Amino acid sequence: MHIGQFQHLISEKYGNPSAIHNLGQESRQAMDEARRGIAAVLGCLPLEVIFTSGATESNNLALKGIAGAYGSQGQHLITTAIEHKSILDPIQKLHKKKLLKDSL
Ligand SMILES: Cc1ncc(COP(=O)(O)O)c(C=O)c1O
Repeated sequence: MHIGQFQHLISEKYGNPSAIHNLGQESRQAMDEARRGIAAVLGCLPLEVIFTSGATESNNLALKGIAGAYGSQGQHLITTAIEHKSILDPIQKLHKKKLLKDSL
């Protein structure tokens, strides 16, 4: 996507993609098209591409998702003490909920 396409999307296709009105449906189509393009580049299924509001939401989703999906295979995560708060806080919460045994 080039900058002109991006400007067009944020100025013209700003509807709620979950809404049934036209503006929302146009946003939905634009998002679905973007999702297919990203999936093609990454070599995954479009439904595996999840858009989030930013890094904090992405990190929470990834860490909690991994802990939930793979917890039966091991409850260990490797990270560093200098990680961003959006990594350290979810790990601390997973510890408190006993979904993680240890992290390095
Ligand atoms: C490494 C890192 N992770 C996460 C964040 C949080 O990003 P966001 O504001 O998109 O949630 C930042 C923000 O500076 C960051 O530098």
